[in-house]
Amino acid sequence: MTSALDRFRIDGKVAVITGGAGFLGVKHAEAILDAGGIPILADINERAALQRASDLSDKYNREVLGIYADITTSESVQDLSDRCADHFDNVDILINNAANDPKVKQEKTDSVPWSRFEVFPDEIWNKDLSVGLTGAFLCSQVFGREMANRKQGVILNIASDLGIIGPDQRIYRNNGISDDLQPVKPVTYSVAKHGLIGLTKYLATYWADKGVRVNALCPGGVYNGQPEAFVQKLTNLIPLGRMADIDEYKPAIIFLISDASSYMTGASLIIDGGRTCW
Ligand SMILES: NC(=O)c1ccc[n+]([C@@H]2O[C@H](COP(=O)([O-])OP(=O)(O)OC[C@H]3O[C@@H](n4cnc5c(N)ncnc54)[C@H](O)[C@@H]3O)[C@@H](O)[C@H]2O)c1
Repeated sequence: MTSALDRFRIDGKVAVITGGAGFLGVKHAEAILDAGGIPILADINERAALQRASDLSDKYNREVLGIYADITTSESVQDLSDRCADHFDNVDILINNAANDPKVKQEKTDSVPWSRFEVFPDEIWNKDLSVGLTGAFLCSQVFGREMANRKQGVILNIASDLGIIGPDQRIYRNNGISDDLQPVKPVTYSVAKHGLIGLTKYLATYWADKGVRVNALCPGGVYNGQPEAFVQKLTNLIPLGRMADIDEYKPAIIFLISDASSYMTGASLIIDGGRTCW
């Protein structure tokens, strides 16, 4: 009989992580390694993907691949799939993790910042949605189709607490700047993250009878040396009173990509220190 803990194991399963060379992508890869799986770091930053894969491989003494991919083009996603096929029979797990999340910075005090909705450039709109949404669409199409053909697989979309709630723009305010000139969290972040939750529900029902489960994780902000004043304003919005530690999502990642969550599809798991319940 399989124990409850055994259901968290993904021994030998191959998992593609888009944006795998980034801040959290590497942590998802560590979670996959912890649970016995084989991570593939797919990233537009090829050098970082190769380096991080090599570091992880050394650390765990296990196979880890880094592969270049620009998930905004179907050719590159197909090429990624072909390169995965050179190494492995199947890709069992897809984590749609890549996204643009430009930091909201102090702007000049006398001009309208690009992030404000009234002047938000359509090039940035297109660019952000092409990574955060089109990329997830294309990867789900290529890898999900193969999973559906094999009648098994898991897709995990990395959304955000800002896929559930609107941003509280007050936390991005700078002193000495008038209201109309305050930088804001870009609209594209909200749209991409809410859109990913829509994609999650769509694919969960679309492939329910093909053995492909699709869920979303909605993480809150991870502490990464942000300015103290910002951290203070953000953590005031979080019942647990702090940002997440970088390793705190790993158990949830394992849960969502393993048989531990076998009866879960189309759901969004919110892990945000309670922010969205306030
Ligand atoms: N860091 C946080 O606090 C936090 C909180 C909530 C949600 N998230 C979400 O988690 C995910 C990972 O965040 P992160 O902090 O690791 O971001 P990050 O910026 O460190 O990593 C993103 C990675 O995506 C890659 N990338 C960008 N465009 C690409 C493309 N076209 N093709 C392939 N790869 C591409 C980048 O090279 C980078 O390595 C994102 O979806 C983010 O929105 C992060």
